[in-house]
Amino acid sequence: MSLHGLLSVTIGVPNVAETAAYYADFGLAPEAHGWFATADAGRQLRIEYAPTRRLVEMRVAADDADDLTRAAASLARLDVNAQAGDTVLETAEPVTGMRVRVEVASRLKQATVPASIYNGPGRLERQGARAPGFTRPDRVRPRKLGHAVLGSTAPETTASFFTDGLGFKVSDRIKGAGTFMRCSTDHHNVLVLGAPVNFLHHTSWQVDDIDDVGRGAYTMLDGHPERHVWGLGRHYAGSNFFWYLKDPAGNFSEYYSDMDCIIDDQLWTPEDLEGARGLFAWGPPPPPSFLHPDDLAAMMTGAHAPG
Ligand SMILES: [Fe+2]
Repeated sequence: MSLHGLLSVTIGVPNVAETAAYYADFGLAPEAHGWFATADAGRQLRIEYAPTRRLVEMRVAADDADDLTRAAASLARLDVNAQAGDTVLETAEPVTGMRVRVEVASRLKQATVPASIYNGPGRLERQGARAPGFTRPDRVRPRKLGHAVLGSTAPETTASFFTDGLGFKVSDRIKGAGTFMRCSTDHHNVLVLGAPVNFLHHTSWQVDDIDDVGRGAYTMLDGHPERHVWGLGRHYAGSNFFWYLKDPAGNFSEYYSDMDCIIDDQLWTPEDLEGARGLFAWGPPPPPSFLHPDDLAAMMTGAHAPG
């Protein structure tokens, strides 16, 4: 039938223990062999050693073996090698070298979380009670992995690998800079950005609502102001509320809620986003380090070092 979601990402970092502790703080549940689980979708993040930070592997879910056969044929037309069996297709993104596995898997069914109750003009729905940000006793636990954002030195080739090769669909473009793509009903599961070096920009994790975006970030920043990157805001592409934090290896991680969903492809028209719209609808101004992370120059030097 089709692709239907992101299963997991594996991130390589030089400082495994420190980075693992960060993602436990972030609300992911540590499991054996470097895995971390989300509340609704199980093991979705793996941390392993790498000399410099990078996205090592992405696993994508498909309905059946036909999806794998189709992807293998499409990748062959792009001259990308792939090994397809009955349940898994293994390949690699040609520019960044990231391993990609497309696996036959059942569709994620998330339990319905009741809508948060907010008061508004003429709409006093929460009466005699304080707002959810104050009353929820639990710490924020991301529900699922939403998307990963990759910097690529050849962004058209990388985007084509996902769309023409694997079968992702384009949701929006940042004019001359990036492509938002989906392999599920979420507005985007992968964004590819043009960059001077191949790197992982961020991973993004779904929480219940705007209060949990705020609560999650607030908890992460308690005693760790250096983790703050950018938030609170709302994106234009995907409409989601966002708050970005930085892990100890330099990767950004995002709490998000309320992302656009695309059920019927015919009812969505991709836009070429220009200027600030490519980045956000509202929020504080993005810091320069959001688009050009502080360690990019060092990664470029590393990438060009002999041996
Ligand atoms: Fe994001």
